Amino acid sequence: MLTVVEHPLVAHKLSILRDKTTGTTLFRRVLTEISMLLAYEATRALPTHHVAIETPLAPMQAEKLLPESPVVVSILRAGNGFLDGFLQLLPTARVGFVGMARDEETHEPVEYYKRLPGDMPSRDALVVDPMLATGGSAIGALERVLATKPRSCTFVCLVAAPEGVERLRRAHPSVHIVTAALDECLNENAYIVPGLGDAGDRLYGT
Ligand code: PRP
Ligand code: URA
Repeated sequence: MLTVVEHPLVAHKLSILRDKTTGTTLFRRVLTEISMLLAYEATRALPTHHVAIETPLAPMQAEKLLPESPVVVSILRAGNGFLDGFLQLLPTARVGFVGMARDEETHEPVEYYKRLPGDMPSRDALVVDPMLATGGSAIGALERVLATKPRSCTFVCLVAAPEGVERLRRAHPSVHIVTAALDECLNENAYIVPGLGDAGDRLYGT
């Protein structure tokens, strides 16, 4: 399933991120803000249960998230730009990391780090990376995550290219993709057009 989040706040913040005159400080702040809006959409299907509470007026059965916290998996580096926003909404979430660097000649991803929490089968996984270009990095990271058999798996990005979405859907059809935008295409260097450039470089000023 593919969800393109259509909301004026998301559109406005994404335009700030796309603008090449936006510097690192503003880029970081707005990326955190938009990641909270995307987290809201990406967590719509999280399971809940009922617990007995008392309001000041009456006892009631209230709805709460299950005690087994979700896991947010950041695809390094740029995925870390989503972490603060996701953890503000899901303060008990566990955090995992998969380090993927794209070889700029071949455009193939190279894994350089992996650390996932235990007890994945009782958790819902939210795998985050602002950019889905050829799809190689997301497919590789999701392979590692899906091998641990999470209860559900959602991939959340900011900008996706049609090529990457198609490849990811074919490789991992069970994964729900949530994006703020589906852009036009990839250029000859496998960058998303119009995109926002290199997300990691813009986030960390490299
Ligand atoms: C970027 C981005 C994705 C990947 C997308 O990371 O954050 O992980 O490229 O491209 P793909 O869909 O073609 O694999 P990059 O490899 O530049 O590493 P970085 O996050 O450390 O900058
Ligand atoms: N990685 C990025 O950061 N941006 C792109 O457009 C493609 C890959």
